[in-house]
Amino acid sequence: MTADLRTAPIAPGRIPLIGHALPLLTDRLAYVQRLRTYGPIVQLVIGPKKTITVINSFELLQEILTRKSDHFNKGLLFEKLKIFGGDPLPVAEGKPHLKRRRLMQPALHREHVKGYIETMRATAQPSVSAWHDQEILHVCNEMQLMAQGVVMAALFSSNPERGPAQTILDSVDTVFKAALTHAMVPIPALERLPTRGNRRARTANTVLHKTIAGIIADHRAGPDTYDDLVSLLMTVQDETGENLSDEEITAEITALLAAGSETTAVTLAWLFHEIARNPELERRLHEEVDTVLTGNELTAEHIPQLTFTRRLIDETLRLHNPAWILTRRTTTPVQLGQFNLPAGTDVMWSPYAMHRDPDLYPDPLRFDPDRWLPERPQPPRGAFIPFGVGKRMCIGDQFSLMETTVITTLIASHWRLKPVPGTTTRPVPEITVHPSTLDMIAEPRKHATAKATT
Ligand code: HEM
Repeated sequence: MTADLRTAPIAPGRIPLIGHALPLLTDRLAYVQRLRTYGPIVQLVIGPKKTITVINSFELLQEILTRKSDHFNKGLLFEKLKIFGGDPLPVAEGKPHLKRRRLMQPALHREHVKGYIETMRATAQPSVSAWHDQEILHVCNEMQLMAQGVVMAALFSSNPERGPAQTILDSVDTVFKAALTHAMVPIPALERLPTRGNRRARTANTVLHKTIAGIIADHRAGPDTYDDLVSLLMTVQDETGENLSDEEITAEITALLAAGSETTAVTLAWLFHEIARNPELERRLHEEVDTVLTGNELTAEHIPQLTFTRRLIDETLRLHNPAWILTRRTTTPVQLGQFNLPAGTDVMWSPYAMHRDPDLYPDPLRFDPDRWLPERPQPPRGAFIPFGVGKRMCIGDQFSLMETTVITTLIASHWRLKPVPGTTTRPVPEITVHPSTLDMIAEPRKHATAKATT
């Protein structure tokens, strides 16, 4: 380290004893956006002395996630997720992470994901077909069930007929929420207390592992019965010919389910919220879906032609990025631009806030899919990071983009989702940034009425 390196400045508004904890707990989204006005890098104090360094600059973030990524582990948020056990991909570190990632990548590779299109459509179809004209839909629930169903169908070949699927999903939710609370208030003694939340998280974790272990045992008993991600994880080998153990597979499945269902569900919910507020965008979506699909079911060949749909999805991932906070921790002293981060520095950034920064996106609060047209000026490289960057980038990005396309086109082929007059929807930052409530009226599209009700 050279002498002229600086320590990141402390953000204004620190209150004795509690530091900056209050706005982070009570007004998160506004606060992470406000923090961006304090410079490229700024420190928060949580409680009397715990500090977190917030990275606002996309260039510095890029450095953390790529060139200097070997000097960081996943930090606070993911450390708390270790309660899931088994060190799955999102929380594994170093060589074990690399090894696991290489093992799993083929299963979620773009070409392999194309093979899931029909499963995705067939899984979502019954939900959409069950809607009635003028029915008020709780859109978040609908999307959640469909997205969960799709991950379950791809992972377990199991249609989420409530039962085990619902148990797993509820448990994932409980454990995840507890982890987030622990990351926000990182005081270890609180985690050990026998509070209701901690007890529920532990029970949920046990249920989770038991249920998934049952599904794996089923696959082991009838290995030829299934053709899904579990079977793939069971057969996949590394260069030394080593397979994953049952415990490792359980951990990976839990993690994929946790990482993969709510993120995609909220993206779908926000997309339909936005197009319902903008009839011209809705009309263009319907036109594209009608022209490209011509009444047929979606196949991989249609995907490249659905260019407007893709821009809609990208714009949703920009304005309503599910991740409002992500973390890392330095494992050695790191020089970041002109700043010095000692070993053990907790680092956090907000993709949500970055995607709404007026210095990076003109008119940032406007939902404008056409900002992604190639002829329009694009944001700088590294400023659009819905799936992260570098060696820890989302492994399910292609799966998720495919799933969002399948469900969006499936709904748009048959239905309009109209806002319920007089309702307002706010973003709520929990595990993801989800809509507070999103009730919408289902209305069959005229030409599609016959199909939608069959
Ligand atoms: C809209 C949907 C999704 C979004 C916005 C999203 C976002 C992200 C982000 C930002 C990361 C990186 C976190 C970091 O750098 O700390 C990540 C990692 C991950 N995601 Fe996703 N994700 C989505 C869907 C999915 C799906 C569908 C799956 C699986 C089926 C999945 C599985 C994972 C896994 C396993 C990791 C950890 C990868 C690693 O550390 O090597 N995600 N995701």
